[in-house]
Amino acid sequence: MVALQLKNKPIPAASDAAGRRGRFVRQGVGSADAIAPLASSSMRHPPERPVVLVGRGAAGYSKSISNKTVLITGGAGFIGSHLAGALLGYGGRVVCFDNLSTGSLENIKEFADDKNFTFIKGDANAPGDLKKVFKKHRIDYVFHYAACVGVLRTLENPIGVLKDIDGIKNVLELSRIHKVKKVIFSSSSEVYGEPVEIPEREEGHLNAKLPYATVKLVGEHYMNSYNEKYGLPTCSLRFFNVYGPKQESSAYGFVTGVFIRQVLSGEPITVFGDGTQTRDFVFAGDNVAASLSALFSDKANGHAINIGTGRPVTILDLAERIIALSGRKGKIKFLKPRMDILHRFPAVEKMRAILAYTPRVSLDEGLKETIRWYENNVKRSLSRAIINTRQKTK
Ligand SMILES: NC(=O)c1ccc[n+]([C@@H]2O[C@H](COP(=O)([O-])OP(=O)(O)OC[C@H]3O[C@@H](n4cnc5c(N)ncnc54)[C@H](O)[C@@H]3O)[C@@H](O)[C@H]2O)c1
Repeated sequence: MVALQLKNKPIPAASDAAGRRGRFVRQGVGSADAIAPLASSSMRHPPERPVVLVGRGAAGYSKSISNKTVLITGGAGFIGSHLAGALLGYGGRVVCFDNLSTGSLENIKEFADDKNFTFIKGDANAPGDLKKVFKKHRIDYVFHYAACVGVLRTLENPIGVLKDIDGIKNVLELSRIHKVKKVIFSSSSEVYGEPVEIPEREEGHLNAKLPYATVKLVGEHYMNSYNEKYGLPTCSLRFFNVYGPKQESSAYGFVTGVFIRQVLSGEPITVFGDGTQTRDFVFAGDNVAASLSALFSDKANGHAINIGTGRPVTILDLAERIIALSGRKGKIKFLKPRMDILHRFPAVEKMRAILAYTPRVSLDEGLKETIRWYENNVKRSLSRAIINTRQKTK
């Protein structure tokens, strides 16, 4: 394997912010799903400080998004809810579709007052649920983000993960029938598996081993088939580690959220092995901005594109930064190494060339924002973590 240079170069600061409150219109695809306006609870809980949104100026996107209806499957999840906020901020109409398996109404409560926001509870893998959505709403664009996520959760549930192929199938076929303008699919760096080359290039070797990664690869191929053979514009984005406010921090969660929860609750940060394994961390606002660039770039059609910073960070460095930025006296506890991919390092040339985008939020800045959110939502994030850990140990 090629040796990695693990330097964290200084990177530019975050730019403007966007976000907006909205009215919550909850519609069920089944009769059991009652309409539940949450305007009053939203009033009781003032909206979070909006996630930093960077990228093209608001004016550029407003023109393209204003009055368009965008379906986000998995829209009540971590990334989906940030994307919803950005689209609403640009004047779009958002249909947020989610089965609330790992997402939550809490994540979208800040849109409760927005007439452009609609929440529909349903299962993307059940054909009837999405069919009703497409029948009721004239959908212009789709972000297909609904998926069973988290390495641990997906390993424990390989057949459940496989069902997500049905969701991909449903989204593509309904989008084709209803002449959707474009489908963006959230793929993953997991498709590279243990890397054969560093940095990992989109056209390089794919070594997917996990059930989750296999499903993402099937999804990418199907996205391409529909783009090539049926004229439905599609683009797959290979997300590297995304982090930010609202991310799950349970034992099933992702490393950044887990580390922050551990520090804030006075536990030692648990690092597997010596912490020299590397990952590429992208702040949620940057991830959203890159996805919006993909939506409006015709050059992206039919492509799979890495979304990363191109600056790998060691897990030990991440742990130390979180301790320092939290202002707490954190400790690090080293555990036995687990079967883990050692290095993740995306080639980002394709992202820069096709999307004309480079993530702008520095790791420290993004971590500060994230820690602040966990501090303000400590009860919520800790109780979710405890519930999920209990479920896990059952
Ligand atoms: N967070 C990351 O670092 C990362 C990295 C790579 C890829 N991704 C991909 O990005 C997408 C969003 O992930 P996230 O981190 O926001 O996770 P998340 O769990 O917060 O979001 C996923 C959402 O999908 C919903 N969902 C799951 N299955 C569904 C179904 N069958 N029907 C309807 N809704 C369903 C969940 O309730 C949840 O709200 C996923 O497709 C994930 O695979 C995320």
